[in-house]
Amino acid sequence: MNPVYYQILHVFALLVLTAQTFGAFANPLPENRRQTLVITGIASLLVLVSGFGMVSKLYGNHFQAWMVVKMVCWLAFSALAGIAYRRPALRGTLALVGFGALLLALVMVYAKPQF
Ligand code: HEM
Repeated sequence: MNPVYYQILHVFALLVLTAQTFGAFANPLPENRRQTLVITGIASLLVLVSGFGMVSKLYGNHFQAWMVVKMVCWLAFSALAGIAYRRPALRGTLALVGFGALLLALVMVYAKPQF
């Protein structure tokens, strides 16, 4: 598959994941929980699958340190919506963690620091 489709899927799934996660922070009602967790779960999986698709197509499966950092960011960000429903009082802190994880992942992919 042409890597451009992985890129589009990666960014689209990230936008959905981010929108739903911050939607959960804004309105963590128990009746929305199931739908939000289904959508963030699917979007999160698509981010990972498309990310590995690019590791394969663009980097010949040669794993680099910045990719590992991105996976840690992805793991942290993907957990936030679920935590917001269980601990709504922590939403402010969770939002800060979310911004930090997104920023770090963007620095990794655009600066590609070599450790
Ligand atoms: C919070 C998590 C993540 C964010 C915010 C993020 C963001 C991005 C963005 C904005 C791009 C640029 C797309 C483009 O220019 O075409 C990208 C590309 C990429 N991402 Fe992610 N990503 C995340 C998670 C992951 C994960 C878990 C992996 C799996 C290893 C991954 C692997 C890649 C690869 C290999 C590229 C292509 C880099 C290149 O074109 O040189 N990303 N990511």
